[in-house]
Parts: sequence; structure tokens; C-alpha cells
Amino acid sequence: MTDQKTSKAANAMWGGRFAAGPDAIMEAINASISFDRRLYAQDIAGSRAHAAMLAANGILTDKDADAIGEGLLTVLSEIEGGKFEFRTALEDIHMNVEARLKEVIGEPAGRLHTARSRNDQVATDFRLWVRDQCDQADEALGALIVALLAQAEAGADWVMPGFTHLQTAQPVTWGHHMMAYVEMFARDRGRFRDARARMNECPLGAAALAGTSFPIDRHMTAKALGFDRPMANSLDAVSDRDFALEFLSAASICAVHLSRFAEELVIWSSAQFRFVTLSDRFSTGSSIMPQKKNPDAAELIRAKIGRILGSTIALFTVMKGLPLAYSKDMQEDKEQVFDAADTLMLALAAMTGMVADMTANRASLEKAASSGFSTATDLADWLVRSLGLPFREAHHVTGSLVALAEKKVCDLPDLSLAEMNSVHDGITQEIYSVLGVHNSVASRQSYGGTAPAQVRAQIARWKKQIG
Ligand code: ARG
Repeated sequence: MTDQKTSKAANAMWGGRFAAGPDAIMEAINASISFDRRLYAQDIAGSRAHAAMLAANGILTDKDADAIGEGLLTVLSEIEGGKFEFRTALEDIHMNVEARLKEVIGEPAGRLHTARSRNDQVATDFRLWVRDQCDQADEALGALIVALLAQAEAGADWVMPGFTHLQTAQPVTWGHHMMAYVEMFARDRGRFRDARARMNECPLGAAALAGTSFPIDRHMTAKALGFDRPMANSLDAVSDRDFALEFLSAASICAVHLSRFAEELVIWSSAQFRFVTLSDRFSTGSSIMPQKKNPDAAELIRAKIGRILGSTIALFTVMKGLPLAYSKDMQEDKEQVFDAADTLMLALAAMTGMVADMTANRASLEKAASSGFSTATDLADWLVRSLGLPFREAHHVTGSLVALAEKKVCDLPDLSLAEMNSVHDGITQEIYSVLGVHNSVASRQSYGGTAPAQVRAQIARWKKQIG
């Protein structure tokens, strides 16, 4: 490359060994400040905890530590006030903050990096950030669950078709269907909580990779930053990105749940289904077709999930071949996690809004529940229970009755008793009582079944848990 491009002064942080500054392309590939500036609050909190610890252990004078602590607060308010100039030449958030600290307080700033490296610094900052995202996901999922519980409660005994293969299978209740998502999102919540608990160990003080010869107190910094304890192995502390992978994995599973639900909402809001009406607030119109109301939010949730899954694969791929300890590859962790976290929070908020606002169309649900021979299983069960038929034979008889109804273009309850008897002469008038969809769902009293009483019991259990 040209002299002109490499003639910049050597880096102030490690200039001792370097005669020249980086090539412009080197700067472009190396710098992370365009995205890791999001870690400024964590970086400053980590540095303040570190400086206080150094002073408490006689490694820094109280005077220097106070100057550093105060100076960092000044830098923080500059950043928050939009008055901070982020410089690409200073590579990342750590060096941007430290360089500004030097301008603000002078010489003592140079003592902050004692017994520390950017390796444990970035690991700490990022862990704090991801930990916070776990809490935010937890909260957002809580709000979604509350919205789902309200839907479930309102329609605990409304009947709708239950599907397998997207073919009408058996009637279920609207409340039951909503509660299936409560179970899924509650597991997602548990995954974020588990991940948070596991990641809550502090890497700070691992220094570059081997620990430090200074008499630091890692328990003190861990406590100051709200971690349960310091990480026990300095190599692991700077190499580990499990916490980010675990967050992404939990986000991915949650994203899959969101996407499945979004898909159902797209189908349900179509003119062919009319199971739900989405609110105007979460729909869009068409510029050419005046009748249209499109479920864009649901479609976008379904689509945006691809970003979360993509980020997850990307970071797994970055990490999978890295020898211990730190490698610069790991700088690629942040954009993936930032994007996945932003996407997840937006998708959760949009889903919560949609669920809170949507109206389930009770009449359409019931009409659909009654078609497609949805109570065929009830009929077969009745043959077993009342006539003592083996289930396989009952299945066969019911199949013939369905074929007959299909031929007559009617539903099962529309067949006369004579027609029923033409297939099996043991059938009595009593059969009609099990062919109604309400009776069908009410009979599914097994634990976790779709009977309104069961659904209400589950709603009550979750409401108690959620508090
Ligand atoms: N910007 C870097 C990152 O995000 C900070 C750590 C740099 N450490 C190093 N040894 N170059 O990973």
C-alpha cells in the first residue's frame, strides 16, 4: 500500500512496538466502534468497578481512582448527551472511552488498564449486555403471556377445529389453542432465565488470558457488577462465548414459536378462515385493492425470524474452530447478537400488540369446528363404549359413515338413524349426543385436554404463577 496510507502515527495504546499506523483497509476491517459503541454503559461500569477495586487493594492511589471514577462519569454523560466523538482510528469502545478519559483527566487515565486487558474487558462488557437482554426477553415474554391468557380466558369454551396436517382433526377450544402458546412462551422464558443464571459469572480480572501478578480482588469486581462470582479459569473467561450462543439459542427457539404463531394468524385472518380479525393498528391496507386488510405484522414476524436463526448459525460458525484463548474472530460476536436481540424484542412487542388487539370470531370458529367430520373420533369412541366394538372395527364403521355423509354432501349429525343403521345396526339415537362439537370438547377431560374445565384450570394455574 502507499506510504501516504500507512504514514499515520502509530497507535497511542501500543505504539511502542509500531513504526507506522494501519492501512486504511486494515482500519476498516479491524474497527468495531461502529457497532460496539452500544456497550458504552457496560464498559464504563466495568472500568469504574475495576478502578475502585485497584484502589481498595493498594494498586492505585485513592486520588487516581477518584479521578478515573469521576472522569468516566463525565465521559458517560458526554456519550449520553450525544456530545462524544467516536473515532474509528481508536478501533473500539474500550479505546474510545479510555482515550477520552485521558483528555478529560490526564495522566491517571493511563493507570486504569493496570491488571486488565481488552480481552477480559470485552468479555465482561458483552456479558453484562447479554444479561440485560435476557431480562428484557423475560419481561417481554411475560407481557405476551398475559395477553394470551386474556384471550384464553375470554374464549375458554369457544369451539374451533383442531388440526393435524392442517386437516380438520377434532374440535378443540379457543382457550386450549391459546394456552398451547402460553406453554411454549413460558418455556422460552425459562430458557432465558436459565441462560442468565449460567452466564452470571464475571470474566474481569482474567486479564489477557493468564490472570495477573497484581493483587487484585476479583470477588469485589464481580459483586460490584452484579455477578454471582468471578469465573474460575482465566483462559475460559476470555475465550468463552457460550453465554452469547446460549442467548441466541434461546432466542432461536422463541423465534420459531413466534413464527409458527404468526403463520397461524396469517391463515386465520384470511377470508377463507375468518377465525380472527386483526386490529387496524396491526394491519395494513392495499394501495390498489380497497377490500384488503393485510396481516403484515404477522408476516414480518414470520420473516424476521430468519435473521435470528441466521445470527445464531453465524456465531456458532465463528466460534467452532477457535483455539484458546482470545482471537479477533470473536469481535464478530456482537453484531450478530445485537441484531438478533433487536429483532426478537421487536417481534415480541409486535406479537403482544397483535394478540392483545385481535378479536376471535366465535361464530366462524364454531362453524368451522362443526364441519370436516370433526367428531368422527367421538363417534368411533361411542361405538367402543356403548356397543363394545374393538376400536379398529369402530374406526372402520365410522369411516364408512363418513364416506356416506361425503356422498350425501352432509355432516355426520345430518345422517338419519336409518342411514346410520345401514352401516351398523347397533347404533341408537344416543349417538347424536356425541356428535355435537360442544359435547365433544367437554368430554376431553383428561389432564391437559381441551375440555373447558381443564383449560380453565390451566389458566388459573398460570395466572397464579405470573402473579
Ligand atoms: N474490539 C475487540 C472485540 O470486540 C476487543 C478485544 C480486543 N482484544 C485484542 N486482543 N485485540 O473483541
